[in-house]
Amino acid sequence: MKIYKYKNYEEVSKAAAGFVIREIIKKPDLILGLATGTSPVGLYEHLIKAYDNFIISFKDVRTFNLDEYVGIPKEHPQSYYSFMHQYLFDHIDIKPENINIPSNDEKNMKKLAAEYDAKMLGKQRDLQILGIGKNAHIGFNEPGSELGNQTFIVKLDEQTRIENSRFFNSLEEVPSYAITMGIRNIMFSKKILLIASGKSKAEAIYKTVYGEIDESVPASILQLHPNVTIIVDEEAANLLKMKSTQLSF
Ligand code: F6R
Repeated sequence: MKIYKYKNYEEVSKAAAGFVIREIIKKPDLILGLATGTSPVGLYEHLIKAYDNFIISFKDVRTFNLDEYVGIPKEHPQSYYSFMHQYLFDHIDIKPENINIPSNDEKNMKKLAAEYDAKMLGKQRDLQILGIGKNAHIGFNEPGSELGNQTFIVKLDEQTRIENSRFFNSLEEVPSYAITMGIRNIMFSKKILLIASGKSKAEAIYKTVYGEIDESVPASILQLHPNVTIIVDEEAANLLKMKSTQLSF
């Protein structure tokens, strides 16, 4: 694991964007795994700037999102379909047919999960971007989810619903279920970039790096991945007691 510590969210976003930009320059037809939530918004802003400045193009990039809520239509302003269009896709030259987000038509959930796995088959992600929950979830692989899962339907932790209620009018509106790419799919990516900011993530980051590998801390499985980069701000790195700005092992 390589861990880089930066001052704050903005610096994390810039550094993470630099990482992704380099990957797209090296491989213009990159297969990129995407996350939603607050963590990658700044990173996406920098990617859009790089696109606007003709540094990168997304015309041959293919993307696979980690997850989507179940129980709200994809047109809902808080769906991850809407999120991705608002914060990234509507501002770049990605081809609609190269965008993949798990479908959330409630009636056929199991079938849709299998279909998402089938879509990913043979398209190993070159790079997977991850945020992390306070409970150390990655994707919506909540504590206790099997580490060998492929795409599946997950009941969201109450803590996750409470955290994400900041985007909705009330807690009641937050869906209770989501469709998420399982840990097995995340681990199948060639490279993983995890970003985290703020003191609320410090414990999750500590357990991810130094904790036992256990289903109760889903992100701890990343210790077994051969190519993980973690970019954190000072607050999220607080418990790591990093003496310098970089830690590798
Ligand atoms: C989002 C996702 C989640 C978030 C995590 C952190 O697609 O899969 O794992 O990355 O909940 O969310 P934020 O960044 O909002 O703190």
